Amino acid sequence: MDKFLIDGNTSLTGEIEICGAKNSAVAILPATLLVNGTITLENVPNISDISKICDILKVLGAKVEWTAKNTVVIDSRNITTVHAPLDSTREFRASYYFLGALLSRFHEAEIGLPGGCKIGQRPIDQHIKGFEALGGTVEVANKVYAKADKLEGTSVYFDVISVGATINVMLASVLAEGVTTLSNVAKEPHVVDVANFLNKCGANIIGAGTEEIKITGVDKLEGNYTYSIVPDQIEAGTFMCAAVATRGDILIKNCIPEHMLPLTTKLIDIGATVEEKGDSIRVYMEKDKSIQPTNVTTAPYPGFPTDLQPQLGVCLALADGKSVITENIWQSRFQYTVELNKMGADITDRGTSALFNGVPQLKGAQIEASDLRAGAALIIAALAADGQTELSNIHFVDRGYEGVEEKFRKLGANIQRV
Ligand code: EPU
Repeated sequence: MDKFLIDGNTSLTGEIEICGAKNSAVAILPATLLVNGTITLENVPNISDISKICDILKVLGAKVEWTAKNTVVIDSRNITTVHAPLDSTREFRASYYFLGALLSRFHEAEIGLPGGCKIGQRPIDQHIKGFEALGGTVEVANKVYAKADKLEGTSVYFDVISVGATINVMLASVLAEGVTTLSNVAKEPHVVDVANFLNKCGANIIGAGTEEIKITGVDKLEGNYTYSIVPDQIEAGTFMCAAVATRGDILIKNCIPEHMLPLTTKLIDIGATVEEKGDSIRVYMEKDKSIQPTNVTTAPYPGFPTDLQPQLGVCLALADGKSVITENIWQSRFQYTVELNKMGADITDRGTSALFNGVPQLKGAQIEASDLRAGAALIIAALAADGQTELSNIHFVDRGYEGVEEKFRKLGANIQRV
C-alpha cells in the first residue's frame, strides 16, 4: 500500500489548474450509455474512479478511447449486456448511475450493491423510489436488479435531498414517455452539468439547479457531440483551504468562483484574503496573522459542502479560539479529527458536531486517511505541521484527485509517494 511522506512547515505558493469535477464525470460517463452514438468528453479527471467506470463501460460493450490526457471518446452504439460486473460496481459509490442509464435505454440493469467511502449510511431508497414511480421494479440484495416493461413520466418528491437520486432518476426519465417532475432535488453544480450534457445530446430537461426539475421524455439521444465537464468545486476548495492552513498564496485557475461562495465567505470570515478574477481565485493568508475561529454547518448546495468540511476543519484546528462544525449530511465525517489529534490538535467529536479548540501548531505524525476528503485534509495538515508526516491509505485520495502530489509539489510541497 502506497503512503505519502510529507514535510511540514511549507507555505504553499504558486498557481495550479483545477480538473473537471469528479462527481460530475462519474455521472456523465455512465450517462453516455443513453446515447446511440459517439460522445467526446473533455476535462475528464484522470482518477481511479473514472478508470473503473471506463472498464465497466467496456465490459458492457461500449468503445472507450482516451485521445488525450483528459479527453475520452465513448461509443455506446453496440451495448451487448445490461449486467454490469458485480465486483467492480461494488468498489465505488457512483456505480449506481449505471442503473439509471441502463434502465432508461434498455429497460433492464444490474449492478453490485454500490460501495464507496465509509462516511456514514448510504442508502439508495430514493433512487429506487424514483425508478419505481417511473414504472420499474427493483430487487436489492448484494446486487441491484432493475427492470421495466415501459417507463412513464411521473412526479417524484424526494424525502431527502440527494445528489445521486436526483441525477439517477433524471437519467431514468430522459427517454420515458411523457413528463417527469422531480421535487426536493439537489442543486449542486454537477446536477446542472449532467442536465446540460443530456440536453446537448437531445434531452429535454429544464430547471436543473432550481427547486424542481422537469424532464419531457424524448425518443432517443444522438451522438457526435463534444462536451466539457465543469471544473471541480471540491478540488478548487481543497487548494483554497490549503492556502489558508499553510499561510500561503495560491492562484487557483480554471474554477467557477460562484460555485465557491459558501467556502469563500468562510475563508474571509477566518481572516484570509480571497480575490476572484474571471475563472481564477487567489487565496492568501499572511504569515503572522492568526486564523479566526468560526462555526460551520454543512448543507446541500448552495449550503456549505460536506466534501469541504474536513479541509476547512484543518484551518479551524489551527485557529485562535474555539469553532464548531456541524455535519448534517454524513454520520461519520469526523474520522479525520482523530488523526488531527494525533498531530496535536484539540478536537472533540460529539457525533453530529465537533468542537475545534484551536492550537497554534500541529506536529508531524503517523496517520491514516479514512476516506477521500479526510485524506486531502490530512495532506494539508501535514504541510502546515512541524516535522514530517507519514500518511497511509492514500488510495482514497487517488479516487478523487488527479496527480495530487504533482499539484502540491508545484506549489512548493515536499511530498513523496513511497
Ligand atoms: N440518502 C438517503 N437515501 C438515498 C440517497 C441518499 O437517505 O437514496 C441520504 C444519504 O444518506 C445522505 C444524504 O441523503 O445523508 C445525501 O446523500 P447524497 O445522495 O446526496 O450523496 P451521494 O449522491 O451518495 C454525492 C457525492 C458525495 C457527496 C454527496 C453530498 C458522488 C459520487 N458522491 O454522494 O461525494 O458527499 O453527494 O454532496 O457524487 C466525495 O466526493 O468525497 C463524496 C463523498
